Amino acid sequence: MTETDAPEYLTTARLRLAPLAPADVAEVHAIYADPATWLHLPAGRHTTLAQTERVVDESEQSWAASGLGRWAIRLRHDLPGTDLPGTALPAGTLIGVASAMLMDCGARNFGYRLTPASWGIGLATEAATVALAVAQASAYPVTARVLAANPASVRVLERIGLTRVWRGRGAPGTTPADAPALPDTTALERLIFADRPLTPELLAAIIRLG
Ligand SMILES: CC(C)(COP(=O)(O)OP(=O)(O)OC[C@H]1O[C@@H](n2cnc3c(N)ncnc32)[C@H](O)[C@@H]1OP(=O)(O)O)[C@@H](O)C(=O)NCCC(=O)NCCS
Repeated sequence: MTETDAPEYLTTARLRLAPLAPADVAEVHAIYADPATWLHLPAGRHTTLAQTERVVDESEQSWAASGLGRWAIRLRHDLPGTDLPGTALPAGTLIGVASAMLMDCGARNFGYRLTPASWGIGLATEAATVALAVAQASAYPVTARVLAANPASVRVLERIGLTRVWRGRGAPGTTPADAPALPDTTALERLIFADRPLTPELLAAIIRLG
């Protein structure tokens, strides 16, 4: 199978998505270490390269186990930027990551993180639209968790057609021991989106993840 017809390689008008690979680590780390991409969850910022390497490792495991994981999102064409120096992004730049990771609870966790220089011109929506189409073709429910204080992310989830299935906050410290190594967000107001109705058991499991 070539890159052009393999379902894991996705192309949009402005973007190319490919499975996240070890060669991407430095570029991904620059985005995950940028405080601006963690405004709503500062404790999640990557402070070591090992954290980003883990993001890539987990993605490779998810691709191998379930046919989908995380994608590196790269520009197909130069992005002119603003009048400010350094805001232009050349073709080929890795601008972010989209995720459709399979979780232990049996649902996919959909998400994205883009470099601030690319925000506000519909690129997250563009990437998420194609990634969601592929994720929905797989057997597992597609779900997304977002903090209520992150309206841009909520808006992207709404625009790509996911439905809000829960809004609330839980008791702190209820995150299961096998949950991903992220800050405990259970006590913050959060929204959960999904592409289909979830069983009460699955919804409860996702709420517990924070
Ligand atoms: C969330 C994120 C991916 C959005 O990227 P983006 O490329 O700017 O997104 P888009 O341009 O495709 O769409 C953003 C939408 O949010 C809207 N938006 C942006 N800021 C907003 C705000 N403060 N309040 C309400 N809506 C807002 C935009 O108007 C746009 O909606 P529209 O197209 O209907 O006008 C980007 O901000 C990011 O990477 N943030 C840091 C990481 C993150 O929060 N990831 C999600 C974790 S759940």
